[in-house]
Amino acid sequence: MNVASDILIIGSGIIGLSLAVELRRRGASVTVLSRDFKQAAAHAAAGMLAPQAENLPPSPMLDLCLRSRALYPEWVQTLEELTGAIALYWDCGILAPVYADQAPNELSNNGVVSHWLDKDAIAQLQPGLSSDVIGGYWYPEDAQVDNRALAQVLWLAAQNLGVDIREGVIVEEIQHQADRVVIVKTSAGDFSAQHYVLATGAWSNQFLSLPVYPKKGQMLSLQVPVNKYNHQAITEKLPLQRVLFGSEIYIVPRQDGRIVLGATSEEVGFEPNNTPAGIQKLLTAAIRLFPQLADFSIQELWWGFRPTTPDELPILGRSAYENLTIATGHYRNGILLAPITAVLLADMIMQQQVDPLLSYFHYSRF
Ligand code: GLY
Repeated sequence: MNVASDILIIGSGIIGLSLAVELRRRGASVTVLSRDFKQAAAHAAAGMLAPQAENLPPSPMLDLCLRSRALYPEWVQTLEELTGAIALYWDCGILAPVYADQAPNELSNNGVVSHWLDKDAIAQLQPGLSSDVIGGYWYPEDAQVDNRALAQVLWLAAQNLGVDIREGVIVEEIQHQADRVVIVKTSAGDFSAQHYVLATGAWSNQFLSLPVYPKKGQMLSLQVPVNKYNHQAITEKLPLQRVLFGSEIYIVPRQDGRIVLGATSEEVGFEPNNTPAGIQKLLTAAIRLFPQLADFSIQELWWGFRPTTPDELPILGRSAYENLTIATGHYRNGILLAPITAVLLADMIMQQQVDPLLSYFHYSRF
């Protein structure tokens, strides 16, 4: 028997690691069981911090996302100070260009600070857009983080703080007696703790009866031509200085000249691989929106699985077991929601403080 720490977290994705760091910083001893760190959706995402560009309606979900976005700069800074590594948070804003042929409901926005730019104004803010663009919404407060760098920073922060991370451990069963979890059976033996957290993303219903299923997203990245833009001190010379959130495509420029394109949304279970149709769809939409991308080199293709729920909202908070907390189902917003999920669930687990917002995300709504 591995007698674990105060808290055992199942899952080493962005949510599991963010919560591990938060709990450890508040003094708890924490063990994280990680099946395969590289498989986490955190590596597949684009890192947009985009409650506004995602056009979430006024709702508890929008409130949760806005609170998390507000936490981001300081949260990343703390993680960077803990590790000496960087997560490349960039408050670059997000531009949502609009075509004349878009349906009117796609032109709405959720009433939070945004600016409508007409054709001339949008061309001035972002040169190089398609001549089909008639204008667009500018969300200066939306931002981005390099999700892969962030995942590494979180892993390092957890290690530096003394979180016991067990990589390559496959959870076989969560065993309970009456309304308490007593043991987690794994490929590396049994683990027990005072409190347990399930943060296993798209795989969550393998462990608890929860309506979480995968929605596949295919993605690719391009590289800005080095000779054209001079790879040294590249940021101010980049052709894109902000995220473009278009119809069926988003284009996320990184400060090192990489450009991430995403993402398809497919209900194909855990079917792996990229497909010609998926990549063609992304490239067609991306080149229409920002034509000069057609000449950039393709760097990498990949895919990931969004943890999706029937109402596309996360499942956060208490479970049917008094010593098991659920943190899953973040769907399109796992990177964005990491800091608020960590703070609210750490408040709940360690201080027994339940933020009223959590009631909207309880598993019992299903
Ligand atoms: N957050 C964007 C996506 O899931 O594709």
